[in-house]
Amino acid sequence: MNSINAPMDFTTKLNSLLVRIESSIDTLVPALQADTPAGPFRIHEAMRYSLRAGGKRLRPMLVLGAAELGARSGVSDQTARMVLEALPAAVALECVHTYSLIHDDLPCMDDDDLRRGRATCHRAFDEATALLAGDALLAQAFVILATSYAGRPMLAAALLRVLADTASGLRLVGGQMQDLLAERAAGTSFAANASDLDFIHLNKTAAMIEASLVCGGLVGGLASVELDILRSAGRSLGLAFQIVDDVLDATTDTATLGKTAGKDARAGKATYVSMHGIDTARRLAHEKTEETLAAIRSLPGDTRFLLDLAAGMLVRRN
Ligand code: IPE
Ligand code: IPE
Ligand code: MG
Ligand code: MG
Ligand code: MG
Repeated sequence: MNSINAPMDFTTKLNSLLVRIESSIDTLVPALQADTPAGPFRIHEAMRYSLRAGGKRLRPMLVLGAAELGARSGVSDQTARMVLEALPAAVALECVHTYSLIHDDLPCMDDDDLRRGRATCHRAFDEATALLAGDALLAQAFVILATSYAGRPMLAAALLRVLADTASGLRLVGGQMQDLLAERAAGTSFAANASDLDFIHLNKTAAMIEASLVCGGLVGGLASVELDILRSAGRSLGLAFQIVDDVLDATTDTATLGKTAGKDARAGKATYVSMHGIDTARRLAHEKTEETLAAIRSLPGDTRFLLDLAAGMLVRRN
């Protein structure tokens, strides 16, 4: 068999990776267990309900795209091995992301009824179950990393460290906290300014995008200077991603989004749209995406998939 990769069209590759990601989620997240002392059914049902609701899986895709850079350009068996090795890390990132969405939607946070085109976890179940499903998904991410990479202890430790830092009060949770405080302070003399808003976006959202690229790069065995480039690409891509999320909230309908549109303005959220207006927000998202693409282009290996993925995140419809 020819070991040189015939260039695969982006959409074909995206769909084929999506199948791998979905089946890895199914394997690595506990199955529905009998409702016995050894196997609580309801918590696993709630975890799977949110996880299997059909998100875009962008963070897992970024993990796989970055891991592939570790393969010698065009060598398909090396690329396939990198993808295989990176799948557990991809699922771990998706578990943390889904936990953050379940909690983000709770009545004490953004109070949303719709997520990924269906009732939010606390609406489909109840608040306590949603809280616990989020908790369990967060822990499950670390179970997956620790067990799947047990044979490569240095890699396991590095991945665990990145994901723990990212999920911490300094990053994802810290960003979410400041997001809520900014909402409460709207219209007062403590209202968020542009640098508060950058902090929120860089932490509540960009941290996970950065971590996805860095974890992929770690699995792919990239050098530390390349990991630094991935980190910085993730920062600009993550910023662009949240700016686009803010723009979509203001410009797109609920059915297309699969989550309630127009919610940010009604809640008085500090967003790029409320702070800078739609046109400037769009321009900034574009600039940050260009920065991301320039950083990715400077990396070794076949960067085509990652470039298309990053560019597509700017023009997404939901
Ligand atoms: C939504 O993320 C939350 C933000 C960080 C803006 P996604 O738009 O990636 O949501 P899913 O995973 O596709 O549902
Ligand atoms: C949430 O940002 C980012 C998370 C960490 C979940 P948003 O609150 O804007 O996300 P959506 O719009 O509800 O998906
Ligand atoms: Mg929120
Ligand atoms: Mg929200
Ligand atoms: Mg939003």
